[in-house]
Amino acid sequence: MKNLIVFACLLCSITSFAQKNTNERAQWFTDSRFGMFIHWGVYSAAEGYWKGEKLRHDNDYAEWILYRNRIDRDEYVTLLDLFQWDEIDPEEWVILAKKSGMKYITITAKHHDGFGLWDSKVSDYDLGDYTNPKRDIIAEMAEACKKHGIKLCLYYSHWVDWEHPLGWDHSREIYKLSASDYDRYWQQKVIPQITELLTNYGEISMLWFDMWIHHSESIVSKEQLLQLKSLIRDLQPNCLVNSRLGLSIDEDPDIDYKTLGDNQLGDKKEDFPWQSPATVAHSWGFHSSDSQWKSTTTLLKSLIGNVSLNGNFMLNIGPRANGDVPYEISQRMLEMGKWLQVNGESIYGAEAFDLNKDLHDWGKITCKQDESSFKLFLHIYNWPLNKQLNLTGISATPQKVYLLADKQKSPLSFSHSGAFTEVALPADQPDPYVSVVIVEYPSKPEITDGLVAKTSDDGYSLLPGNQNPQPQPIKITPPAKYGTIPAFVAADGVTDFSWKIYVDQPGTKRVDVSYSFQGNRNNSQIVLKASGQSLYHSVHPTGQTVGEPNQDWHIDNFESNEIGTIDFPQPGFYTIELSIQPTEADPIKFQWLWIN
Ligand code: GLC
Repeated sequence: MKNLIVFACLLCSITSFAQKNTNERAQWFTDSRFGMFIHWGVYSAAEGYWKGEKLRHDNDYAEWILYRNRIDRDEYVTLLDLFQWDEIDPEEWVILAKKSGMKYITITAKHHDGFGLWDSKVSDYDLGDYTNPKRDIIAEMAEACKKHGIKLCLYYSHWVDWEHPLGWDHSREIYKLSASDYDRYWQQKVIPQITELLTNYGEISMLWFDMWIHHSESIVSKEQLLQLKSLIRDLQPNCLVNSRLGLSIDEDPDIDYKTLGDNQLGDKKEDFPWQSPATVAHSWGFHSSDSQWKSTTTLLKSLIGNVSLNGNFMLNIGPRANGDVPYEISQRMLEMGKWLQVNGESIYGAEAFDLNKDLHDWGKITCKQDESSFKLFLHIYNWPLNKQLNLTGISATPQKVYLLADKQKSPLSFSHSGAFTEVALPADQPDPYVSVVIVEYPSKPEITDGLVAKTSDDGYSLLPGNQNPQPQPIKITPPAKYGTIPAFVAADGVTDFSWKIYVDQPGTKRVDVSYSFQGNRNNSQIVLKASGQSLYHSVHPTGQTVGEPNQDWHIDNFESNEIGTIDFPQPGFYTIELSIQPTEADPIKFQWLWIN
């Protein structure tokens, strides 16, 4: 019987959730995808300035002001005089998260300044000791989160603590601190405070630690981290722990998910859960000079892009010392919430599909298996001018295609052949930010991997980096001089390239090749073979061009050359082979091939 139950649970976890390599504890997290980060503390009242001087670091992380501007720990707390306690209501932050479609909140219980936002019995540097009547923001958050069905998570700076005489402060690189003294901080403050936080505030869904280097490069020992983690597992076995605890995931596979760098978005599909912490402008704590606000579209694309690679996105608010959330942040979040109200199905519980992440030029794909069908969510960043959506790489014929925003699910017409589906889009995009098309299949469709997708303007852009199979090892020289010199492969001997495309519309197509050749004579040639035909092109010197005026910014000219046409007689898969055959000492710098 016990075995049967285990088997049934296994089945339900497979059908309800497919992102592999997610432990049971973390499933709510990968299902949620979108959360709120809150950086709020004593520093919020400084607003990025101390005694008229701006924060001493160009990164302008306002929560670092105590350390950066060398403020005395006791003088620092005079900032609390500016707090407007009658106006501060954490429930408003929770309501903002809820309306913004976020499913969890991580608040800075204790940031690097060491000041606790609760009434801590083991420290006198906390709100309990500095407010009258006493405020306990963690208790208020716990209550509000419970009321609104949001999961409460706590940020706790374990490694760095600028107020405790034996805590870590980067100046300790110069003025040393012994391991045994640091352990006194650890046992006197970290362990008892985590115990308080996991004992007195009900369910804590995650502890978010913040050590962005491995423990071996820090004063923190592996034993201290394991002590901390086993305390968490004992007190609240369901509480997630992030990778910035400082143990590597290889070292301890029990870490629940990986935290990327600040504002670092995902760039590859991963099955192990991961998350990007992000800001709307730059600083985490409120900074009065913050001004480069990302647009709602940019933020939505960050969320979608992460989900399309199996990642989460946690977006920060830095409220002021009166509790207000900057308008630029709250407006964007509310706009994201409105988008999610319509399109949330493509985000919550959705995951990465099997196709290469940058295959399509119109946007990103997420997918979901539900009881009766398998859905692909095509997030269209750029509504194609020709109202035609090209989907390359899926071998199955869809069952139905419709707009996620359309409650009637009115079918969109489409055609499918081989590994190509073309959807006829309505004239107007349903959403000004990102519109979503659902392509439904009876079950997870087979894919044809390694194809170069047809672009929205109906061509094939064949690059050194999207070959399949790659006939020989190549070295791609990355773009230089601010991209005025594009990426290329310098062929100094015969160099072969090969691509696979699916041609849905047979006919004669033009072929262009872009290269730069700085030699003098033109005995070298480029040979293209496709569909049983060959094209020969005599390479000619392309000369130089100027990147910017009057700066001696002279660069190799990369020039596009029409080299002929190829007839693709019927729909189907074609292999395109290109051979660059230099005869001179000077290499031919191959950039791309364009067929359309
Ligand atoms: C860094 C900073 C910190 C901020 C955090 C957010 O670790 O030290 O101020 O809280 O990133 O990801």
